Amino acid sequence: MVPNKLDRRTFVEQSVAAGAAVALAPLIASAAEQAAQTNPAPASTAKQAPPAKKIRVAIIGCGSVSGVYMPHLSKQPHVELVSACDIIPERAKKRAEEFHIPNQYPHIDKLLAGAPFDLLVNTTDMQEHERLNRQALQAGKNVWSEKPIANSLPAGQELLALAKKQGVRIWGAPAVVMSPQFAFMAKTLAAGKLGRVAAAHADYGHTGPGWSAFFYQKLGGSLPDLGVYNLTTLTGLLGPAKTVTAMLSIVTPTRQIDRVGKIEVTEEDNAQVLLDHGNGVISHVQCGFNYFNPHGHEGKHETRHTVSIVGSQGYMGLVGYDWEPLGVDLATESKPGFERHVPDAAGYVWQQGAALAANCLLTGNDMLITPEHALHVLEIITAARESQATGRRIALTSTFNWPVFG
Ligand SMILES: NC(=O)c1ccc[n+]([C@@H]2O[C@H](COP(=O)([O-])OP(=O)(O)OC[C@H]3O[C@@H](n4cnc5c(N)ncnc54)[C@H](O)[C@@H]3O)[C@@H](O)[C@H]2O)c1
Repeated sequence: MVPNKLDRRTFVEQSVAAGAAVALAPLIASAAEQAAQTNPAPASTAKQAPPAKKIRVAIIGCGSVSGVYMPHLSKQPHVELVSACDIIPERAKKRAEEFHIPNQYPHIDKLLAGAPFDLLVNTTDMQEHERLNRQALQAGKNVWSEKPIANSLPAGQELLALAKKQGVRIWGAPAVVMSPQFAFMAKTLAAGKLGRVAAAHADYGHTGPGWSAFFYQKLGGSLPDLGVYNLTTLTGLLGPAKTVTAMLSIVTPTRQIDRVGKIEVTEEDNAQVLLDHGNGVISHVQCGFNYFNPHGHEGKHETRHTVSIVGSQGYMGLVGYDWEPLGVDLATESKPGFERHVPDAAGYVWQQGAALAANCLLTGNDMLITPEHALHVLEIITAARESQATGRRIALTSTFNWPVFG
């Protein structure tokens, strides 16, 4: 992919000018027409209407996180919410009523055969993403997927190839590289203010969700649910990892889940992952579902450094979580007292990825969030599991366009 990176300021300007969507509509038309010519849609989806002036969005998976995505998406001038889908039909119905969404479906087949749309927002169970993303791409839809984008690196690479073949696009959460705090940290590192960078640490945990079993079952786990944020941040700041060494464990072998009862935990709920970024730089991510956290799932009251990076001449700590950052503290040889920077998120919210994807579809631009980065993080997660299973250090094969700020 040719990088054509969009910084935050540009995006804000473009969003403000989202009325510009009207002028940009031909871009969508040509992309969709091209896709239709090179890859005729299956019979079930052949009734695509002419492209609209807004990006038509369908959301699949109307559970907990959809309650954060939908209020955000519904306020975007360049987005039209057209369909809601869930295998538990009352959930799709509830979201459709709440956000005045005209169509609701109980199955992806019906969704794809139903009202036309441009972008699928996939907020289903982690284990379902790969299959549903593949089906959507095959039907010529663009995809924004919650993490993970797929279950393995080869499967994810196959999805990217499929998207290219279909003339559509796919992106995966998280959106942490979009925060102004991430930008500040990346630029501070690039300016050499920490001297020779040596090590970094990041951690994220709480006592685990109680509303769905999939978080604790095979291909779920604390790494793709929680560690994924820190892994994206640290590889985004320090560069792609070369090798991974990890210890993973299950601390709580059974869990009580709402409306389900007792389940067995079969994927890690505690993880310690070491990354070698090359050049002597080593980082560490800790995540789990057994961590006392006075803030629970709420990020905005967390004020400790959850990401820290140290070098020969400086230390930098991200205040709060990387998905809801509150500032960056910097201490350097020349200014050894901590100074707080970027205390304002400037409009960044962790759930903005789907709206940014819709904007990319309108403008034809790329953004800082890339599917290659999501796949690299996915490979780290599967490598961490292999390292735990074999007791070995695992070499990685994937990479992504780095530095994130060209
Ligand atoms: N809940 C959060 O705070 C949060 C935050 C960020 C990211 N996420 C991520 O979002 C995803 C969903 O998490 P959640 O907490 O919303 O889970 P959830 O269980 O509350 O919701 C998932 C929904 O997907 C539906 N679903 C499952 N398989 C489906 C299928 N094949 N077709 C249609 N619908 C299907 C389920 O019925 C359910 O309603 C996960 O990847 C999670 O890691 C969650």
